[in-house]
Amino acid sequence: MARVLTGIQSSGRPHLGNILGAIVPAIELIQQNQEESFIFIADMHSLTSTKNGEIRKENTLAVAAAWLAFGLDINKTVFYRQSRRPEVAELTWYLSCFTPYPMLANAHSFKDKSDRLSDVNAGLFTYPVLMASDILLYSADLVPVGKDQMQHLEMTRDIASTFNRIMEEEILTIPEARISEAVKTIPGTDGQKMSKSYNNFIDIFLPEKQLKKNVNSIITDSTPLEEPKDPDTCNVYKLYSLIASQEQTLEMRGKYQGGNYGYGHAKKEFFELILTKYQKERELFNFYMENPAEIESKLAAGEEKAKAVAEPILSKVREKLGFS
Ligand code: TYM
Repeated sequence: MARVLTGIQSSGRPHLGNILGAIVPAIELIQQNQEESFIFIADMHSLTSTKNGEIRKENTLAVAAAWLAFGLDINKTVFYRQSRRPEVAELTWYLSCFTPYPMLANAHSFKDKSDRLSDVNAGLFTYPVLMASDILLYSADLVPVGKDQMQHLEMTRDIASTFNRIMEEEILTIPEARISEAVKTIPGTDGQKMSKSYNNFIDIFLPEKQLKKNVNSIITDSTPLEEPKDPDTCNVYKLYSLIASQEQTLEMRGKYQGGNYGYGHAKKEFFELILTKYQKERELFNFYMENPAEIESKLAAGEEKAKAVAEPILSKVREKLGFS
């Protein structure tokens, strides 16, 4: 099959959007795949927002722990920290010289903040080039991501094609995005896209009491308890149906339409479902967070393997550009 690669920023602990939109689909893809896959923690990307090194380290551990808790098969995966393969920074410089300014000025990640330009650092502006390098340095074919990363994937394809055209040789592999329709945009507690930066996320790894509080923060309307409610406009129902079985979802739908079923009841069911459905993952996540050496050894092994793939590709690029 094809080489699968994806990454998650360590700008926070992974939330339900990351899990359903990226971790679960990527792990499924890896299981079906014969070829070795590449899963990394985009800790360099997190520097565009998080400046505190201790926090970054903790988040990097949490992202790694989440992948492992969800069953990432490290025998079939090169699992690594982006920053431990500094070749990516070198490639980013080369590729940035092939990236037109208007392409970056058009990126949603930049445009969303362009009304407050003083808050935009150069790293945030060139963020898509680092992401392109993440993908191209390992000749990835398939990149499973949520819909919000689609534009970055298109830029990666454009940058790679431009490079190959100017170099008159197919040096860089043109990757394809893989976006699962059902989970392309997971809503947050306020109905907008779930995101660390909107602070509207569900963190399924929280201790019970905090998780309950987190679930209770889901915004609902003020329809009285006795009255029927519209499940399709309700944030609790939307989130519940993403992790529940079809049968459980239909049952909750019936309760919404029947009346005498409040949002508090629905939140309680969602909370309990997180606890039962993700019991194993929650335990494993805690185990890894308490035993960082277990994570470290896995990442260190992956970082060595990543080097063996990155170096020949980078050498080819250097050679073509007259840097060898
Ligand atoms: P990040 O860290 O914001 O998100 C990681 C992955 O989770 C997906 N995701 C979602 N999917 C569905 N619904 C949501 N609400 C939701 N929120 C997040 C994202 O689409 C992504 O797949 N730039 C990337 C990280 C990155 C990367 C890469 C990814 C760096 N280099 C190379 C792939 C390949 C990012 O910030 O994702």
